Amino acid sequence: MKITICGCGYVGLVTGALFADRGNKVICVDNNPKIVNALNSGKIHIFEPGLGKLVQESVKRGNLSFIDKVEEAVQNSDVIFLAVGTPSNGDGSFNLSYIKEAAKDIGRALRNSLGFKVVVVKSTVPQGSYKILSGIINQELGDGSLVEWAYVSNPETLAEGTAVKDFQSPDRIIIGTDSDKAFLIMKELYYPFIIKRDRIMRGSPADAELAKLFSNTALATRVAMINEMARVADITPGADMDVVRRMVCEDSRIGYKFMFPSPGYGGSCFPKDIQGLVAQAKIYGYNPKLLSVIHESNEVHKNYMGERVAGLINCQNTTTVAVWGVTFKPQTDDMRDAASIPIITRLINEGINVNVYDPQDNKARGIFGNKVTFFNDQYEAVKNADALILLTEWRQFDSPDFSRLKTQMKGRQLFDLRNRWLPEAANRNGFDYFGVGRNYLLHEKI
Ligand code: UGA
Repeated sequence: MKITICGCGYVGLVTGALFADRGNKVICVDNNPKIVNALNSGKIHIFEPGLGKLVQESVKRGNLSFIDKVEEAVQNSDVIFLAVGTPSNGDGSFNLSYIKEAAKDIGRALRNSLGFKVVVVKSTVPQGSYKILSGIINQELGDGSLVEWAYVSNPETLAEGTAVKDFQSPDRIIIGTDSDKAFLIMKELYYPFIIKRDRIMRGSPADAELAKLFSNTALATRVAMINEMARVADITPGADMDVVRRMVCEDSRIGYKFMFPSPGYGGSCFPKDIQGLVAQAKIYGYNPKLLSVIHESNEVHKNYMGERVAGLINCQNTTTVAVWGVTFKPQTDDMRDAASIPIITRLINEGINVNVYDPQDNKARGIFGNKVTFFNDQYEAVKNADALILLTEWRQFDSPDFSRLKTQMKGRQLFDLRNRWLPEAANRNGFDYFGVGRNYLLHEKI
């Protein structure tokens, strides 16, 4: 099939590369000529495991190309995907200006097209957006055009770091459309990914939009809940959140997924989507009580983590703190809404020197600049540090060499904000251990 993808970000690029990999002819459009030139020579501007190789191979085979003008691509395609950014406005609502612009471009390009075209919205949009976006396309199209087109909402369900794998073996593929013809085309397109088991769920565009937002809201709510419980454990004498978590999650109705305490969730999706869902519900006249406080709970938790670390390290006597991992999760370079930002900022404001090591620190360098010192080796970063904070659970941090830490660090405090380490192992090696909801030293003091 011939496909156009508007937007070469995490979603658009993965979608384009994976469809091209299966033999489709894909043109990806981005209005940034620098990105387009780099991609045409096989260089990708984001870190996503497995993606670089897929892009290079498909570009070489002639199945994947990149341009900065949408018109010609749309006219020569059967399916046009919209995968442009929908960032948050300051008030929590989605900023639809880019996607509206892209819908206009597509409408105009369709004017001079022939045959049947499917326009697929993959970007995350507030519930009910299909009305606005299909309205824009129809308006631009005007009367008298020979093209027939149908609207599909096909929200993405990829997680950063595992996006290629998620696309290749999806849990489900959500297709929201009123058109049977468009549905069949979408099924044909995704068929290579569902050969073993049919994963396609069909509903209306409104169903699909709401399902997307509800999925992320459900996951974010679980993380916010376990983090609040961890805070309860912090002040409960003798409680260890990791033990409590296992006792609770073993109940198959509750389960283990997205119930891991952390310094707070981040990324480009949970914070934005949950706020956007609530903002849109309010526009429609309903103020959801529970959903309205999830984002706030997560923000409070991130700040609490910064306060807690700053409170426990005794800022007056601390000169240097080492941080392992700053991205919002492992296997990505993405720093959007990362918990590391408020926590490190809190320490910088105390006048503490912060040494940072992260295996994918290019975006972090742009954010922190020279306010922190970046290292290329995790053990170099801990030299003379009074404390070490684990902020992102990259696999290489799982089994620290405690004796090396002991020789190189000045202090003896370990803040494990991903609960990855055994407190007993840290204690045995002479370190004071602090986790999320598992504050061993504090319990003794209470
Ligand atoms: C999320 C969803 O998982 C995807 O299904 C969805 O397609 C995507 O948003 C999107 O809407 O584009 P992503 O934001 O890439 O994916 O990352 P997640 O793995 O969901 O993690 C989000 C945040 O929650 C991270 O900061 C992570 O550290 C945190 N988290 C996750 C926890 O703190 N505890 C957990 O138990 C799980």
